[in-house]
Amino acid sequence: MSNESLANLLKEERRFAPPADLAAEANVTAQAYEQAKADRLGFWAEQARRLSWGKEPTETLDWSNPPFAKWFKDGKLNVAYNCVDRHVEAGNGDRVALYFEGEPGDSRTLTYADLQREVSKAANALTELGVQAGDRVAVYLPMIPETVVAMLACARIGAPHSVVFGGFSADALATRIEDADARVVITADGGYRKGGASALKPAVDEALTRPGTEKVRNVLVVRRTGQEDIEWNDDRDVWWHDVVERQSDQHTPQDFDAEHPLFILYTSGTTGKPKGILHTTGGYLTQVAYTHHAVFDLKPEKDVYWCTADVGWVTGHSYIVYGPLANGATEVLYEGTPDTPHKGRWWEVVQKYKVSLLYTAPTAIRACMKWGDDIPAKFDLSSLRILGSVGEPINPEAWIWYRHHIGGDRTPIVDTWWQTETGGVMVSPLPGVTETKPGSAQQPLPGISATVVDDEANEVPDGGGGYMVLTEPWPSMLRTIWGDDQRFLDTYWSRFEGKYFAGDGAKKDDDGDIWLLGRVDDVMLVSGHNISTTEVESSLVSHPKVAEAAVVGATDPQTTQAICAFVILRGSAAEDEGLVEELRAHVSKQLGPIAKPKKILPVAELPKTRSGKIMRRLLRDVAENRALGDVSTLTDSSVMELIQDKLPTAA
Ligand code: WT7
Repeated sequence: MSNESLANLLKEERRFAPPADLAAEANVTAQAYEQAKADRLGFWAEQARRLSWGKEPTETLDWSNPPFAKWFKDGKLNVAYNCVDRHVEAGNGDRVALYFEGEPGDSRTLTYADLQREVSKAANALTELGVQAGDRVAVYLPMIPETVVAMLACARIGAPHSVVFGGFSADALATRIEDADARVVITADGGYRKGGASALKPAVDEALTRPGTEKVRNVLVVRRTGQEDIEWNDDRDVWWHDVVERQSDQHTPQDFDAEHPLFILYTSGTTGKPKGILHTTGGYLTQVAYTHHAVFDLKPEKDVYWCTADVGWVTGHSYIVYGPLANGATEVLYEGTPDTPHKGRWWEVVQKYKVSLLYTAPTAIRACMKWGDDIPAKFDLSSLRILGSVGEPINPEAWIWYRHHIGGDRTPIVDTWWQTETGGVMVSPLPGVTETKPGSAQQPLPGISATVVDDEANEVPDGGGGYMVLTEPWPSMLRTIWGDDQRFLDTYWSRFEGKYFAGDGAKKDDDGDIWLLGRVDDVMLVSGHNISTTEVESSLVSHPKVAEAAVVGATDPQTTQAICAFVILRGSAAEDEGLVEELRAHVSKQLGPIAKPKKILPVAELPKTRSGKIMRRLLRDVAENRALGDVSTLTDSSVMELIQDKLPTAA
């Protein structure tokens, strides 16, 4: 992004120093940056010692065949042992691992000793079902303790899991079962969502009628909702409570090679068939454990941690299951949606469990902003000490709202940039070190080499913009795309030689801090200027009457693309011609006339994927008066009808 007229985009002057008491006792200090800079591999070798290895690695990184990395390759370890047993052996068996809160209000508490017994039983059950090391197991479950147990049981016996988000359709599940060649599917009758039981098993039944899924031998079914009418195939289906409950609660974990596959997780990307991102054992666990310790400053004896993501996403894998449990954390696992049975549900959970570390997504924060400041104000949120954000760029106004209304103006906010592919956090403030800036993920973590480059792969100077790249291998990097090394090379390693291309636009500010600007596919070209959708959205959201905004570039004969904005208004803001003009003027004043939206359309909802990302592709279809493309990954497909109904007839 090379134009001066936009040089003062996101001119964000607010700064927040770490609280002195937090800084004084922080797990990680500024010295970590120095140490990692002086000896990057030595730094990661030291972090690997947070884990218990059956055989300690002697080699940190084998990069002899880039970009196929081998981290800690002669080491051996068991992931489940690291996440569970070793805490029990260290005398912490009575520490709570999971506070489970079901959507209907039921709750369960599992200590590390409980978890050890449950994981052992499930590992024995999978073995009885013929699952061996290396076999793939598909997991299609709601957010319940058995999900964590199932993942750890797979890890314990070396069977890579492929977790498929419970909101995905039978088709999506079938494609993923086929691609991973899974032999067993673990599911539930259903789960609770938005105030009712929502079935899962029928989607599995349907998926298994599709060609390519014939090799699935068993479906292991957790009873969660007790729905009566589920279909049953006696040759294939087994109840968790029949098969798992009768197993021995003793199981001796075996060590696996550091590069043994731990899981496959599918990411849809913008086009084509989903990519099975492969993560392996030793490097992955090292980085997720270290980053969770560093970014959340976890004090396992004191903190109560809660990541609101679904385990079907990488955030759930790395920061609900593997990172926190490797660190012996006590954490909340919540089944349902934030607004059931009321819009204060999350804050009620924070109050109930005295959550001290909260990790959520900008889309959720903006939803809460829209619902009103008075809702969180009714709850005691004084236990919170650090707030995290992940998933998309967080608009400065949402950041400030989060800090003020949720964090009581006390808590550092860690805006963590990473991806399914990176496995763990890459760019983020450190809560005891960084003076934070609303909207910026700021600096690569110690041991991580990330920067912004221009079209010619040159690192941009401070103040410049371009593409987010990773310049050195990192322990939790994806190892390949399952079954498709060529696509791995083409997608990530061919754009800039020797560098990992993340697909995100980014810029460096005058201090060298990194600002993420969204996927490069979302950058608009207006009269020869590159304008980021994120920046125009943040400008709109900074207007007091706007709760949320989505911006797209629509083909335009005069200007190549024209900026078209869809906005959700706050509370009582009236939607009139005057307001639209006011918003256009607001953006023009903040960002310059070139960034002024040509059209602004107030809408009631925005189309989002189930992970909360705005589907700009569909909005582009609307803005360009085209038939809508694939809507199958939308949370709620009626949203698009609402938006189209509002369109002025053939613009
Ligand atoms: C993409 C990765 C990382 C786990 C959840 C999403 C966007 C993620 C941030 C952030 C700006 C962010 C990027 C990235 N993203 N975190 N803090 N600031 N953008 O995982 O589904 O693989 O998506 O999410 O565009 O490339 P994912």
